[in-house]
Amino acid sequence: MPFVTGRRANICKMGKIICEMFTSDRLNLSNFVTVDESCSRTAVFFPWEKRCPDGKRSGKEGRDHRVFMNNGLQKGKVMRKDFGAKPLTYPQPVFIIATYDEEGTPDAMNAAWGGISEMNEISLCLSAGHKTVKNLLKRKAFTVSMAEAGKVVACDYVGLVSGNQVPDKFARAGFHAVKSAFVDAPLIEELSVAVECRLIDYNPESCILRGEIVNVSVDERVLDDNGKVDAAKVAPLVFDPFNNDYLVVGAKVGKAFSDGKQLKTQK
Ligand SMILES: Cc1cc2nc3c(=O)[nH]c(=O)nc-3n(C[C@H](O)[C@H](O)[C@H](O)COP(=O)(O)O)c2cc1C
Repeated sequence: MPFVTGRRANICKMGKIICEMFTSDRLNLSNFVTVDESCSRTAVFFPWEKRCPDGKRSGKEGRDHRVFMNNGLQKGKVMRKDFGAKPLTYPQPVFIIATYDEEGTPDAMNAAWGGISEMNEISLCLSAGHKTVKNLLKRKAFTVSMAEAGKVVACDYVGLVSGNQVPDKFARAGFHAVKSAFVDAPLIEELSVAVECRLIDYNPESCILRGEIVNVSVDERVLDDNGKVDAAKVAPLVFDPFNNDYLVVGAKVGKAFSDGKQLKTQK
């Protein structure tokens, strides 16, 4: 029966490589198993064969499906894959940047490369040609809404078309604009959490935009009974840059600034 007992998937991959060294056929990972107890050698099991593919018997009596290789693995050391110098981090946000043009027409775009850079500052990496950039340089303001699971189509759409070519893209996305009370930029009615920003500066060479956060605006529909923001009600999106997927923020798994304290007491 096929079985896999490797402690880590990437150790299993090592098993696959070794397997391919012994056979001309590519074997299905689910047909063999890797790693011995010490992690210092790799054990590859061929449950459907009496002998190892190289024809030699190996291992002790009764364990003749096993090939031991000294693969240089140290105890506890795992194989890793390098993806190179790329902008890939978890989690990346899905921000929807909203602006007004000189006529007061709202525009919105999707931005996944950005985050908080000071206590009251947000930094984003926005290409200079975007309608959004032209607008915010004129109006000196923008809002940053968190994309939500219930609006994934609209949020992706505003990342696919430009206000330069489709001036009514905001309306086509099904968004409705409400003027911010704090800055000269629109809030998006359909997105419940937004930061309202005054332009600090924009560098067209580095594409770095910095905005001063002057207010955080939250729709009451996502507040709990204590007036706190309920992440489950917001259902904010996360961008997965490895696979170009939108994920939804999941279950609570810990308490920040707190869970690590248990290790502080250890000697
Ligand atoms: C998931 C996703 C993330 C994006 N992130 C960025 C980003 O961080 N910076 C950027 O300049 N463009 C980003 N874009 C592309 C812009 O959203 C897109 O070019 C948009 O059409 C610009 O609209 P505008 O010209 O109306 O401002 C992203 C698009 C998608 C779909």
